[in-house]
Amino acid sequence: MFNEERHLKHPIRWGLVGGGRGSEIGYAHRAAAARDRLFTFVAGAMDVDPERCRDFGVNLGLAPSRCYPDYKTMFSAEVRRDDGIQAVSIATPNATHYEIAKAALEANLHVICEKPVTFNVSEAEELKALAEEKNRMFAVMYGYTGHQMIHQAREMIKRGDIGDIRVVNMQFAHGFHNIEVEKHNPGAKWRMNPEVSGPSFILGDCGTHAFYLAGLITGLKVKSLMCSRQSFVASRAPLEDNAHVVFNFEGGAVGTLWASAINAGSMHQQKIRIVGEKASLEWWDEYPNQLRLRSSGGTCPDSGAGYELSLQREPGDRCKPYWRGSR
Ligand SMILES: NC(=O)c1ccc[n+]([C@@H]2O[C@H](COP(=O)([O-])OP(=O)(O)OC[C@H]3O[C@@H](n4cnc5c(N)ncnc54)[C@H](O)[C@@H]3O)[C@@H](O)[C@H]2O)c1
Repeated sequence: MFNEERHLKHPIRWGLVGGGRGSEIGYAHRAAAARDRLFTFVAGAMDVDPERCRDFGVNLGLAPSRCYPDYKTMFSAEVRRDDGIQAVSIATPNATHYEIAKAALEANLHVICEKPVTFNVSEAEELKALAEEKNRMFAVMYGYTGHQMIHQAREMIKRGDIGDIRVVNMQFAHGFHNIEVEKHNPGAKWRMNPEVSGPSFILGDCGTHAFYLAGLITGLKVKSLMCSRQSFVASRAPLEDNAHVVFNFEGGAVGTLWASAINAGSMHQQKIRIVGEKASLEWWDEYPNQLRLRSSGGTCPDSGAGYELSLQREPGDRCKPYWRGSR
């Protein structure tokens, strides 16, 4: 594990496309890159407005000459430098991911790309093949996978703590767009435009996170699915602001995903619940350092009754189990 003492001798020289002043996700990329001194932020094409990019970049400590008006100029200038960027994050609206990621790989850069990675599978597969050909890393920003409890859950399932998986419930159902906020919010407006957002709003924007997490934890592969999508704010049609997906997984497990932007009164409500034959596991991103293992009876080590075991992360990265509920 990296920490501030055990850092890279030569931090990776890193650039950012998109994520300019006032953007939603730009700060998360810069803050994550600055942690533990693994990356040095040296160049950016962060904004559709070149002047704003330059002003913002200089305020963030970039050399004025490395605040670029667009990504093409940035890649071609940076490849000519001995100290040019080695990796780039792409934090622009969805429609641009494919072309920027392709150009970055062609410039021999490692790529960290925002989700949803592309509009369709064939574009994503093309990028995967290009990354392999160029021997470059291609990462997609499923940031919640950094939570330790996600990996704890994966290990518990692998070693059989809950038995064979029967049901997987996934949800990412926030309430921030229960009214037409896009009228006044440019960051929300493009998300409702199929040309920029892609064929989906909330499934691609948020449902993808819960789906990816559940896949990482369980390893299950989808066999078939059906989906019901709605635009409760009518002006968003044909894009959905609420959806339910029902899955059949290979091996017999089943699942559901609720993705919503109109869950009024809710923050994230990203939850994963996995029901096995012996017990269930549950994780909620509003309490990310906790994982709940529950059984309805019979397997509690010292009483034989139903139990609830919460695993909590402690300083020092250890998991501390504690008993609660009926024993
Ligand atoms: N992983 C996550 O949890 C998460 C969270 C939020 C957003 N996102 C993703 O991040 C991406 C950006 O979302 P956002 O909410 O920050 O958008 P935003 O509208 O808030 O910001 C977009 C930024 O990109 C800049 N930009 C747009 N086109 C550009 C181009 N061609 N070249 C350079 N800069 C350009 C804009 O000027 C702006 O600074 C989206 O794909 C979104 O799905 C991911």
